[in-house]
Amino acid sequence: MTIRPIFIAGEPVLHARAAEVTSFDENLVRLVEDMYETMDKAPGVGLAAPQIGVGLRVFVYNYDDDEGNPRRGEVINPVLELGPIETGPADEDTEVEGCLSAPGERFPLKRAERAVVTGVDLNQNPVRIDAEGWFARIMQHEFDHLDGLLYLDRLDKEWHDERKLMIRERGWGKPGVSWLPGRDNLEG
Ligand code: NI
Repeated sequence: MTIRPIFIAGEPVLHARAAEVTSFDENLVRLVEDMYETMDKAPGVGLAAPQIGVGLRVFVYNYDDDEGNPRRGEVINPVLELGPIETGPADEDTEVEGCLSAPGERFPLKRAERAVVTGVDLNQNPVRIDAEGWFARIMQHEFDHLDGLLYLDRLDKEWHDERKLMIRERGWGKPGVSWLPGRDNLEG
């Protein structure tokens, strides 16, 4: 297993729709193993394949849900169903999201309180995840990565100036910027 560099906002693969997985082969097994290792080392609660430069519809997650149950797994070719998303501004204390592809930054964002993800695992067995609260947020965030969306793309208008400034100051928003968990002291 290998810890892989994580690409930062601006890398084209992060901003394009990822392709369906059609080959459940050794390469896919290696990819998913590397994703777990990279996520754990970061550390992060989720990681999508485009974040390590692979445009395939796969994400991994690792999170103790709001009831304290450990949730860990991979989802391949996921489908996402959402509950309603509350209107109004996101809470700047309790609804603040981050991303390993924009390490060290956080912005408020509303998400649906409930999400259901279906798909398959590496063995092509069906997966169904019923997620609530923060775990539901993670599911939405990781799924978005597969559609070429960062949470930064979803921010309310009031945050757009700050986002633009942050990306410019960080030297992001262009191809070829990455960081390596374990070597670079950053966090999502
Ligand atoms: Ni992310």
